[in-house]
Amino acid sequence: MLEIKNSVAVITGGASGIGLALAKYWTKQGGKVVLADVAEAALSKAADEIGENVATVVCNVSQEQDCARLADTAIENFGQLNLVAPFAGIIKDGLLIKTDKETGKVNAKMPLDSFKMVLDVNLTGVFLTVRECAERMVNNNCKGLICLVSSTGSLGTAGQINYSSTKAAMSVMPKVITAEFFRRGIANQIRCVAVAPGYVGTPMVKNMPDKVLDKIVGQVPIGRLIEPEEVASFVGDIYRNEALTGDVFFIHGGLRLGSKG
Ligand SMILES: NC(=O)c1ccc[n+]([C@@H]2O[C@H](COP(=O)([O-])OP(=O)(O)OC[C@H]3O[C@@H](n4cnc5c(N)ncnc54)[C@H](O)[C@@H]3O)[C@@H](O)[C@H]2O)c1
Repeated sequence: MLEIKNSVAVITGGASGIGLALAKYWTKQGGKVVLADVAEAALSKAADEIGENVATVVCNVSQEQDCARLADTAIENFGQLNLVAPFAGIIKDGLLIKTDKETGKVNAKMPLDSFKMVLDVNLTGVFLTVRECAERMVNNNCKGLICLVSSTGSLGTAGQINYSSTKAAMSVMPKVITAEFFRRGIANQIRCVAVAPGYVGTPMVKNMPDKVLDKIVGQVPIGRLIEPEEVASFVGDIYRNEALTGDVFFIHGGLRLGSKG
């Protein structure tokens, strides 16, 4: 079993939602955190709330140099890097094509920007964060976990061709990374998993219109959104348990899984 006490977590998207909940959980368990986010003011507010054992990096995860600086900060400030939690993520929902109700003809398409923007943060950003952090973990002999965040949306949610595609990628990355690390003899040093939450009560979900939120909660057997703190402690449990690697672990309150039309 790994211990969180004195271990160092790099968390992107750390100024809000699940990332912030994880940072608070981690430091309460005696760990240290490097919090990264593009939202500067929210990031320093988060650091103030946490108090001790926190370093911050203003960072756009889609930028290579930013991710390198982030990984360096963990080693320079705390001497090690044990948990990589690349949780920065965005949504930009829309349909692939929209048809006019009267004519049946296409009257709108998802703009390329809406597709690319989500891929840049949710996919390229994760790739860069994980690559830079894994390099420092290997070179500094750090033991730990790369914990990606997928989603029940990885199974295919209408209106989210961009987001669902990135979250499906998060489901396959633990297998790829674990297989590669196995070949290099480091799979027991650095494990890789993904957690796949259902609907979590963070700004990403709570900013949806009330009508949409009510409909969402109506589909969750436990009758409520998942709390960000529940995802955070789940990540902690997976971190401690060294038998867990190479897979995706769902946390969704019983939500019926499958594609939703
Ligand atoms: N909330 C949910 O229901 C839910 C469900 C499944 C998965 N997730 C995933 O969990 C992760 C966190 O989601 P959340 O609900 O906490 O969202 P959130 O909106 O509360 O937080 C996301 C954070 O990422 C930051 N961010 C955005 N773009 C960035 C960039 N380019 N570089 C650095 N930081 C950036 C934002 O500033 C924000 O602080 C996301 O990857 C999301 O897809 C969320």
